[in-house]
Amino acid sequence: MSNRLNISFLGKKLNNPIMTASGCFGYGLEYKDYFNPNELGAAVLKGITMEPRNGNPGTRIAETPSGMLNSVGLENPGIEEFKKIIPSIKKELNIPLVANINGKILEEYIAIAKEVEQIEEIEMVELNISCPNVKDGGMAFGANPEMARLVTREVRKVLSKPMIVKLSPNVTNIVEIAKIVEEEGANGVALINTLLGMAVDIRKRKPILGNIMGGLSGPAVKPVALRMIYQVSQAVSIPVLGMGGISSTEDAIEFIMVGASAISLGTGMFANPTLPIEIKKGLEKYCIENNIDNISEIVGAAHPDGGAAYRSRLGGNNEIKG
Ligand SMILES: Cc1cc2nc3c(=O)[nH]c(=O)nc-3n(C[C@H](O)[C@H](O)[C@H](O)COP(=O)(O)O)c2cc1C
Repeated sequence: MSNRLNISFLGKKLNNPIMTASGCFGYGLEYKDYFNPNELGAAVLKGITMEPRNGNPGTRIAETPSGMLNSVGLENPGIEEFKKIIPSIKKELNIPLVANINGKILEEYIAIAKEVEQIEEIEMVELNISCPNVKDGGMAFGANPEMARLVTREVRKVLSKPMIVKLSPNVTNIVEIAKIVEEEGANGVALINTLLGMAVDIRKRKPILGNIMGGLSGPAVKPVALRMIYQVSQAVSIPVLGMGGISSTEDAIEFIMVGASAISLGTGMFANPTLPIEIKKGLEKYCIENNIDNISEIVGAAHPDGGAAYRSRLGGNNEIKG
């Protein structure tokens, strides 16, 4: 492979812009029977919290037209267990590992950020302020501009690693929140997380999910993701990690053209576990066929000015800011 897909993302050199979406790739090795995870640009791991969590009770997944609803509720083994397993994961993965961190209250976000700051195998952090499946915390931070400001500011104080803030799409003004987290020191933004939805079992006359509502993901959310990335990337000067329904090379190119510097694959990998490899080959082929020396040249290509202003704000090659 040529270096057409090599990018610099938040100051890290990545072999390609393809990452996994948190919660859809376990802790990095679950897909290794399907493909070599070292072929990814970086791996975003399942969300972690301070204490172990059992997640939500009852049915947690429901199929919907062109997508799925989940209410996993951040089930995870907690930070102490995470610290124990990370060295063995790093032995097999020589790509950057991104920790996805979560809290119910501000103090938990700060405490977990202090912990991941100390884990040398973790190179970047995705601060999830957008989980729709946990009471308190989670989306409450991402849906309220002043809460988003507070949590980003306080986490930034204790975290020196590159930080991507994962925004909630369940808001009326995504641009306002993106600008706030940029002001407070985010090095990048990730969007979108899942959209709040529900499904009903008509025989039981009850909601299907035990938690009643859940997060909608998959192809159904793609147009919303594209719209939000398009809006946000024209308003900020930090890279966007784009996700939400990517299931083909063409989808990935659309995300890059609306302004994503890198992409994460989630629900699409459940149906097609080798999707990252297909997209990697597809992007390389697209670059060759279209005389593109480096994929970062088309970041924002669908903006009214062809993305020139955004790419120049990002700096030569999506370099880390600040
Ligand atoms: C089963 C499942 C679990 C998820 N867990 C997390 C999580 O722990 N942290 C997080 O930030 N996002 C989580 N997400 C959201 C995804 O990372 C992603 O933002 C979303 O699913 C949209 O992308 P997709 O349509 O490609 O799946 C989860 C999504 C699914 C489907």
